[in-house]
Amino acid sequence: MNQPILELKNIKKVYPGVVALKNVSMKFYPGEVHAIVGENGAGKSTFIKTITGAIQPTEGKIFFEGKEIVNNNPIKSLSLGITAIYQEFNLIPYLSVAENIYYGRFPQKFGFVDYKTMYKNAKKVLDWLGIDINPKTIVKDLSVGYQQIVEIAKSISMNSRVLIMDEPSAPLTNNELKYLFNVVKKLTQQGVAIIYISHRMEEIFDLCHKVTVFRDGEYIKTMNVADTNKNDLFALMVNRKLNDNFPNRNYTPQEVVLEVEGLTTSKVSDISFKLHKGEILGFAGLVGAGRTEIALAIYGADKVRSGSITLKGKRIINKSPAQAIKNGIALIPEDRKKFGALMNMTIKENISYSMLKKIAWKFGIIKANFEKKTANEYKDVLSIKTPSINQKVINLSGGNQQKVILARCMFTDCEILIFDEPTRGIDIGAKQEIYALMNSLTQQGKSIIIISSEMPELLGMADRILVVYNGKIAGELLKKDADQQTILKLASGCDGGTYEN
Ligand SMILES: Nc1ncnc2c1ncn2[C@@H]1O[C@H](COP(=O)(O)OP(=O)(O)OP(=O)(O)O)[C@@H](O)[C@H]1O
Ligand SMILES: [Mg+2]
Repeated sequence: MNQPILELKNIKKVYPGVVALKNVSMKFYPGEVHAIVGENGAGKSTFIKTITGAIQPTEGKIFFEGKEIVNNNPIKSLSLGITAIYQEFNLIPYLSVAENIYYGRFPQKFGFVDYKTMYKNAKKVLDWLGIDINPKTIVKDLSVGYQQIVEIAKSISMNSRVLIMDEPSAPLTNNELKYLFNVVKKLTQQGVAIIYISHRMEEIFDLCHKVTVFRDGEYIKTMNVADTNKNDLFALMVNRKLNDNFPNRNYTPQEVVLEVEGLTTSKVSDISFKLHKGEILGFAGLVGAGRTEIALAIYGADKVRSGSITLKGKRIINKSPAQAIKNGIALIPEDRKKFGALMNMTIKENISYSMLKKIAWKFGIIKANFEKKTANEYKDVLSIKTPSINQKVINLSGGNQQKVILARCMFTDCEILIFDEPTRGIDIGAKQEIYALMNSLTQQGKSIIIISSEMPELLGMADRILVVYNGKIAGELLKKDADQQTILKLASGCDGGTYEN
């Protein structure tokens, strides 16, 4: 354990207007899970991209087993067994699971891709992971959670010695998380060094041996996990004390604004529920249970086979998201990369995009001052870390990209907001800002549906919780009757819970 497998010395990375990393030195050891924590934009992803050679540091050196890696690049680091699962998934949606695992290194036979061997090998890796996915499945047909597993399978198949995971747990639900933990433990037993980035504190304490705090691109401190606690970590991350509370909600039921009856699509069936004015309605369930699919159907992004949607007493049919928004229903999607941000546009443009009517003059000229003011307001409220609102979204850290999309959706005139995993990848400080914002939106008379895999978030925010299992609503709980155990029971079809559903 004394010899680090990987060492970084004095790493610095400068982008125009931003010093993303300032003189960071760290060591990583075989068989250890080493967490890196810090606020959105603290420099975590930049640090790991430096290790994999995806970006070049402005200054600094990297050593693998004591030997310097000169002119690091992704191919070189891979050949040493440094693999990474990035925050943004890197799978190719239209290829199969096996093709993704072996992409760029397909087994060959007589100059052709040897599919038989490829499927067989992929199956072996998936079996080792203890997961029942057909290697021929097209990746886009898998849930986000399963896609994550394919990413892991890909890393493992490359004989990883250092495995970097940038928020691997973000799309996973509780059961999947347990599964991920087992895989990580299995890998450490084989002497793999794991670098683990997460915004979920519990995971750090359940899984990791060491934890390092980054703040504003600076290395702050490395500690043994056993010697620290959540409050201390938070204080190091943000330089202030943790306020763990959810906003105080005293919701009294008001009139029904949305009524869904017998909604059926290819993925969900016979969904009926009511949403009231000013209410926060939570959707609980396992990955693949159908929560997102219900939202997509209401939002006009998925074909409705039968059933009805009634908005303030009027039957509506949303044939497209554009129509849903016109009807006053907005969705903040789970897969924000795919639906959400206009990556090559600026923060300002992204925020104003959804409300062009509000900010455009009669003749289509943007009210520049109003646009700027609003964008700056949201930047402050959600503490979007950037030198300027004229920065392109693609240049922001993962969490800050999320905040831009949230800001965009919150800025619409829509009365019904559907949030699918709103705080995934968002640091704990900003999470609380988002909860407060949701609360104030409902006080303004808006109604919210929140889909979340984070139990404390649902229990803390929702006035009522619907539990979805297998494409159907398995139960309804009022805030006062809801607890983790009851939800999990319903979410797993009352049979004690299995990983697959
Ligand atoms: N290509 C780029 N151009 C300009 N600035 C960048 C670029 N990539 C990252 N940055 C900036 O560097 C800083 C660190 O970003 P990084 O992605 O490393 O943060 P992070 O700690 O991973 O945050 P998160 O928790 O949100 O993922 C941020 O201020 C970000 O805006
Ligand atoms: Mg990041």
